[in-house]
Amino acid sequence: MASKIVGLGMYAPPKKLSNHDLEKMVETSDSWIVERTGIRFRRISDPGTNNSDLALAASRKALADAGVRPEDLDLILIGTCSPDMVIPSTACFLQMKLGASNAFAMDVIAACSGFLYGLSVADAFIRSGRAKKALVVGSEVLSPLLDYTDRSTCILFGDGAGAAVLTECPEGDGILSCHMQSDGNLWELIQIPGPGTVNPLTPDMISQKLHCLRMSGNETFKHAVTKMGDVAMKVLADAGYGVDDLALVVPHQANLRIISAVGKRLGVTAEKVFVNVDKYGNTSAASIPLALAEAKAQNRIASGDLVLLVAFGSGLTWGAVLMRM
Ligand code: ACO
Repeated sequence: MASKIVGLGMYAPPKKLSNHDLEKMVETSDSWIVERTGIRFRRISDPGTNNSDLALAASRKALADAGVRPEDLDLILIGTCSPDMVIPSTACFLQMKLGASNAFAMDVIAACSGFLYGLSVADAFIRSGRAKKALVVGSEVLSPLLDYTDRSTCILFGDGAGAAVLTECPEGDGILSCHMQSDGNLWELIQIPGPGTVNPLTPDMISQKLHCLRMSGNETFKHAVTKMGDVAMKVLADAGYGVDDLALVVPHQANLRIISAVGKRLGVTAEKVFVNVDKYGNTSAASIPLALAEAKAQNRIASGDLVLLVAFGSGLTWGAVLMRM
């Protein structure tokens, strides 16, 4: 058996933070942000809204779309780097809130690649017969982890969630090939340094803002383009398809220039590349399922279409999934 996405859902908090809002907070401009990133808005959660609340809203929609009950799930995975707590996992909070009493649940930490890492794990569990129905979520509340005095990062990120329900399907349908990679030698490029054993929780740690996201944007950019392009070509070749067979590419939504460069590297036309980074910014692990659910809601994908998902993030981590919808 193979595995297939049979339901999708997304949720983004209603509060919008515009580029013009950010102009009042840091030395930046709407034109710089639009030109360098393509981002116009990002969504920000109210204080007290947890990652698992966003995940819950997206998951309920995905389960309804799939016609699957929470108690039918036997696996719940959340890709996230902004969990409710250190322990227990956000996936366990989601399991409780859904009432998915027959599932086992865990978080997948691979930053912006977290949803695709989760899909590949769920696919392996379903193929091996150790799970029949899985819920894979990408969910982030990154706003409390941003330094709103650092213009190089705070303009990029937003909060949101997307969810997918997977079930068994015959080989040749659903997920046709997937490939995940990482390179820990490049860990310094994107990091939230603490609290952890390297930077334990101390007043100093907080005053140095070591709990906030840091990124070497320029170098990250170059790795993102080459690694996403290469892994996308690999999953196509592994499954015996070419770019012309694709109905849609749904890349990680980090930056419009990265998305365009990956599209060019692949040789696909702009119409075949889904973009919503303008509305939500970079929502890390949530970005691909949020985009995929929106693409489906906008009738950009239909049953039987060949769709390519490709991600890149801190770690460094990257990966791609090729699937028949
Ligand atoms: N407004 C105005 N100027 C700015 C801003 C801003 N918000 N941010 C930076 N600048 C300035 C810099 O200070 C610099 O000025 P200087 O030349 O005087 O030093 C200048 O703009 C150029 O800065 P760069 O960093 O070279 O700008 P770049 O064109 O590379 O864009 C960006 C920066 C948008 C961050 C880009 O590099 C990028 O998108 N990188 C990749 C991000 C990514 O892919 N992340 C994926 C994973 S994220 C995760 O895993 C959680």
